Amino acid sequence: MPKRQEDPVATHSEAPSGSQPGRAERAAMRRALDLAARGLGSTSPNPVVGCVILDRAGRTVGEGWHQRAGGPHAEIHALAEAGDDARGGTAVVTLEPCNHTGRTGPCSRALIGAGIARVVYAVADPDPTATGGARALADAGVDVEGGLFADEAAAGNIAWLTSVLHHRPYVTWKFAATLDGRTAAADGSSRWITSEAARADVHRLRAEADAVLVGSGTARADDPHLAVRGVPGAVQPLRVVLDTHASAVKRGARVLDDAAPALIAVAEDADASELEGAAELLRLPRARPAGRAAGLDLHALLAALHAREVRSVLLEGGAALAGAFVAERLVDRVVGYLAPVLLGAGPAVLGDAGISTIAQALRLTVCETERLGPDLRITASGAAASAASAPAGAVAPGSAVATATATEEF
Ligand SMILES: NC(=O)c1ccc[n+]([C@@H]2O[C@H](COP(=O)([O-])OP(=O)(O)OC[C@H]3O[C@@H](n4cnc5c(N)ncnc54)[C@H](OP(=O)(O)O)[C@@H]3O)[C@@H](O)[C@H]2O)c1
Repeated sequence: MPKRQEDPVATHSEAPSGSQPGRAERAAMRRALDLAARGLGSTSPNPVVGCVILDRAGRTVGEGWHQRAGGPHAEIHALAEAGDDARGGTAVVTLEPCNHTGRTGPCSRALIGAGIARVVYAVADPDPTATGGARALADAGVDVEGGLFADEAAAGNIAWLTSVLHHRPYVTWKFAATLDGRTAAADGSSRWITSEAARADVHRLRAEADAVLVGSGTARADDPHLAVRGVPGAVQPLRVVLDTHASAVKRGARVLDDAAPALIAVAEDADASELEGAAELLRLPRARPAGRAAGLDLHALLAALHAREVRSVLLEGGAALAGAFVAERLVDRVVGYLAPVLLGAGPAVLGDAGISTIAQALRLTVCETERLGPDLRITASGAAASAASAPAGAVAPGSAVATATATEEF
């Protein structure tokens, strides 16, 4: 294949065994991170992974990303593109190469077989069934370096890492509100607070999520559809409604059409006879009386979704359900669409979250701000009590595997 991204400065002499990654490797990792992001929304329950193969001279000769679960891993795509040019070269990959045979063979073996001399990866694989690739590579004499751009790579794989480390999906709470935090006017009218650009962006968020979730209040008020529209090639998420008494979602509800799968979560003792045959039901225990009394047990919900290989959940409201998630410290990320509109009265965007004094306030970190037409999208994280840690990952002290940066919180 034709050579790309030629960089005469970058060679292995810049990055000998055990040294910090050189310029070409850093550029290749940036490219691998972009490639990995192309898989967002379509690789679940697998991680997103990108890989770039550099030849001996540090030139890019192969690229690949994991495109869908069950399909070839990023390294396999990149090796196929590189062909014989991979021999003696470097594989730059956003996740430690796997060491197990699942639906595809171990990438560590494929890299060794292709004659790769050096592997630079970003994040160590914490999955107990797949880990050990770096060790296998090092044992075969490959020079291995871990931890390059570990923070960025972990952020890109946050949903998968959260599910591997905490056995629950990564939860993003999304809301749309006026600048003064109202979701509707005092008379209940709420249509089009945010612009078309902001509403289109929500469909991108849905497309990246494995499941979209609302409470029975929203189901009752809006009869929401919750499927993705206008995102070419999107994998439709599972649409989930929390309807404790099986009284809000009726036969014929838009969420029950065939645009995407749907799941109605109801209490173990709810009479759901009206929905039987029309919707898949998930029976859940009620929230523990000692906690927030209303509704269903959110931990049980997330455990059930995790068991169905849901790695990311987009919580779309409403205020009461979002408050309950925040109270349980189950929100990992917040995406707020703020319209430059003032109402002064009307329902607030977040319901009771069990916070009664300023000392208990949840303080988040803004990760991104973006103008969308007249509106502003603010993304903040740090809300969950148990944010995943990015394993940058050394195999063992004194081995041929080194780490470029220390493990960091994200
Ligand atoms: N601006 C926005 O971004 C946005 C987004 C969504 C909705 N909305 C608006 O918000 C309004 C609805 O909000 P809402 O607060 O009334 O309803 P909601 O949050 O959608 O639903 C709340 C209901 O969910 C059920 N639920 C089940 N398990 C729960 C749990 N563990 N914790 C809390 N609730 C649980 C409860 O009813 P049962 O136990 O009886 O099932 C509860 O009353 C609508 O007007 C909608 O248009 C705005």
